[in-house]
Amino acid sequence: MQFKLSTMITKPDFQGEFTASILAAAASPDIISFAGGLPNPVSFPIPEMEAATKKVLEENGVVALQYSSTAGWPALRQWIAKRYETMGVSGVKPEDIIVTNGSQQALAMVGAAMLDPGDKVIVEDPTYLVALQSFHVFDPEVLPVTINADGIDCDMLAETVKANPDAKFAYLIPNFQNPTGLSYSQEVHDKVVEIFKGTNIMLLEDNPYRELRFAGTATDSFGADLGEQCCMLGTFSKIVTPGMRIGWICVRNEELRAKLLSYKATADLHTNIFSQMVLAQYLADNDVDAHIEKTKVLYKAKAEFMMDCLRKYLPADVTFTPTEGGMFLWVTLPEGITAVDLYRKGLEKGVAICPGDPFYEVQRNVRTFRVNYSNSTDEAIEKGVKILGEVCAELIAQA
Ligand SMILES: Cc1ncc(COP(=O)(O)O)c(C=O)c1O
Repeated sequence: MQFKLSTMITKPDFQGEFTASILAAAASPDIISFAGGLPNPVSFPIPEMEAATKKVLEENGVVALQYSSTAGWPALRQWIAKRYETMGVSGVKPEDIIVTNGSQQALAMVGAAMLDPGDKVIVEDPTYLVALQSFHVFDPEVLPVTINADGIDCDMLAETVKANPDAKFAYLIPNFQNPTGLSYSQEVHDKVVEIFKGTNIMLLEDNPYRELRFAGTATDSFGADLGEQCCMLGTFSKIVTPGMRIGWICVRNEELRAKLLSYKATADLHTNIFSQMVLAQYLADNDVDAHIEKTKVLYKAKAEFMMDCLRKYLPADVTFTPTEGGMFLWVTLPEGITAVDLYRKGLEKGVAICPGDPFYEVQRNVRTFRVNYSNSTDEAIEKGVKILGEVCAELIAQA
């Protein structure tokens, strides 16, 4: 039987195929995997969720098990709206929030609501590969802008915006960007605001790692300066649990909000109301900031340990960018060897990394790769990095 599939889905999907093969390889119990981006399960509040679940079922079981509204559970939308005060954005209303199936769904919703084939989208280069995948479905022209140690390259961004005033939106991850772990400095943040002010380009801010900062100071959300021109994505995946699949989009433009809601209704009617209510109950009954603080202490120790191991075991001409939060480190190999070479050889020796290639729209055979530190034991980090160091040395010797 041969079905005729949609051309949208049968387009070549470099990012998807690459990621599927990496995740499959990394899933083996014999592999030390730094390839994924899983939060550490130590940070999951299991007893507290159990208590919240019981309370929701006892006090509000009929609502929790019934169909619900597309925009999301009011108590949760209220909590999220208030949270924006901690990101410098005042006046966000619960009505501005649409609760989604992780922030991932919000990416697909924005693509569906804003993109026709050939439309232009500005992205950081490299950027979150599943965002690229989500946008590719709608066949846009993707305009990559280099990211530097202090954030997006503002000269290149200004040129791109000037040459493409018709771009639909720019997708930016200002804190502990995936894959690079880099954050925008205040100076870059301010320049970005100036570049977008007065244009009709929507700034789509994705900020899943902002709350995982263990040193330095975070910049405010772009929504503080750009008002309804900025749509802000958020998620509970990195601060409470990814398994409940609860994220959101804060969208203060009424026309866009209506389109997003109408698309979401066709996709799933609404996000799992039971999960939303349990999460809202958990947030009402517990100090989530204290919980996040514990996660940050754990991640700081893991990041520092992995950075120590990278300094100790990798050849001197392999460099990495130190981080002050999030879940990833970004490593650069010397000229002559590619991250895919390292990935292949590393796997043979029992360690998986995530080569940079699928995070770039255009560049291939790059020398950069991502390692995740949040979900490995210290023993696995030391053993894995030591093996990576040996493989790098072999590849350098052969180059
Ligand atoms: C930058 C970025 N955005 C969005 C997501 C999607 O997260 P979720 O759908 O769990 O909210 C991720 C997941 O790793 C991510 O790194």
